[in-house]
Amino acid sequence: MKYSKIAGTGSYLPPTIFTNADWEQRVETSDAWIFERTGIRSRHIAGKEESASSMAAIAAKRAIEQSGLSIEEIQMIIVATGTPDKIFPSTACLLQQRLGVPTCIAFDVQAACTGFIYALSVADQFIKTGAVSNAVVVGSELMSRVIDWSDRSTCVLFGDGAGAVVLKASETPGILSTNLYAQGSYGDFLTVENMQLADYTGILPGTTKTENNNADLMALSPYVKMQGQKVFKIAVSKLGEMVKDILEKHQLNSEQIDWLIPHQANIRIIQATAEKLGLSMEKVICTVDTHSNTSSASIPLALDVAVRDGRVKPGQTLLFEAFGGGLTWGSALVQY
Ligand code: UT7
Repeated sequence: MKYSKIAGTGSYLPPTIFTNADWEQRVETSDAWIFERTGIRSRHIAGKEESASSMAAIAAKRAIEQSGLSIEEIQMIIVATGTPDKIFPSTACLLQQRLGVPTCIAFDVQAACTGFIYALSVADQFIKTGAVSNAVVVGSELMSRVIDWSDRSTCVLFGDGAGAVVLKASETPGILSTNLYAQGSYGDFLTVENMQLADYTGILPGTTKTENNNADLMALSPYVKMQGQKVFKIAVSKLGEMVKDILEKHQLNSEQIDWLIPHQANIRIIQATAEKLGLSMEKVICTVDTHSNTSSASIPLALDVAVRDGRVKPGQTLLFEAFGGGLTWGSALVQY
């Protein structure tokens, strides 16, 4: 039996830090409101020359370096992002070019904040079947480009960054299981709607060119829109059910989980999930205070922080979990 083992981690945060005090200057909010409701104190914001692929490249290089793989050996690149550089080429192909990786498999996965778990799961299947013997899996997000900087209910929640792991085929346990879920009927609760579509009205038979033919498109929002309370309630309930199922399925008790590494959207959601697991917050890696919600980048970012500061050690059992637009949610149980 082959496993996928995490052989390297890396991350990147843009140098510009935007604090809650900075948001107080821009919208009607306060550090107290933001911190009490979310646990966020600050976030990193990318410079105008940065992109999902440029941030991914720095994170991936760090992970590849730690894994001991050479660039020439890389067989697969998967990037989870909801903020790609372009519709195509995929951010994974742009990353391949930036890294100088020879011909390999490269594609993006879009599952909003759950994207990294989805991407990890896909890479795991390729490795377990023997199709590839390694993969670079990245979450990279430029949330600052899709928030409405005047909407206090969403703008204070998000930040930018990238996190990466290198997976290698191994005879010893690595990724033990992944669980993926989606419920499209909840899709409207968390969206970025904008799409630039070609206008064929007046050209295709049966269509007429009128002044308002783009009205529907123009009405689409290019920004994150969220029904926060609805998302919050579904997140707490679905994540709670999911982590309980994982413990049951693997016949684990909470003492056997060394670290919970959750998606960093809101400290209250994280606390509720830890409570469901019977884990004290000392066994939870939390970066939401300084990273805020970096969507699909948040788990690999938090993992890299904890690997590099020595909290996460080889042989430990880690549980990743995430929740996001789609709505999607998922988990990965990992022996590091
Ligand atoms: O990562 C993807 C998944 N996303 C999530 O998991 C996010 C889930 N949702 C949440 O984390 C929370 O719902 C939020 C942090 C987004 C909001 O917290 P909440 O406790 O649900 O607040 P709320 O939306 O019910 O708003 C409460 C009040 C409202 O005022 P009124 O109507 O009570 O007078 C809002 O207008 O807080 C007001 N408010 C703010 N006040 C100060 C909303 N945003 C702000 C703000 N500063 N930034």
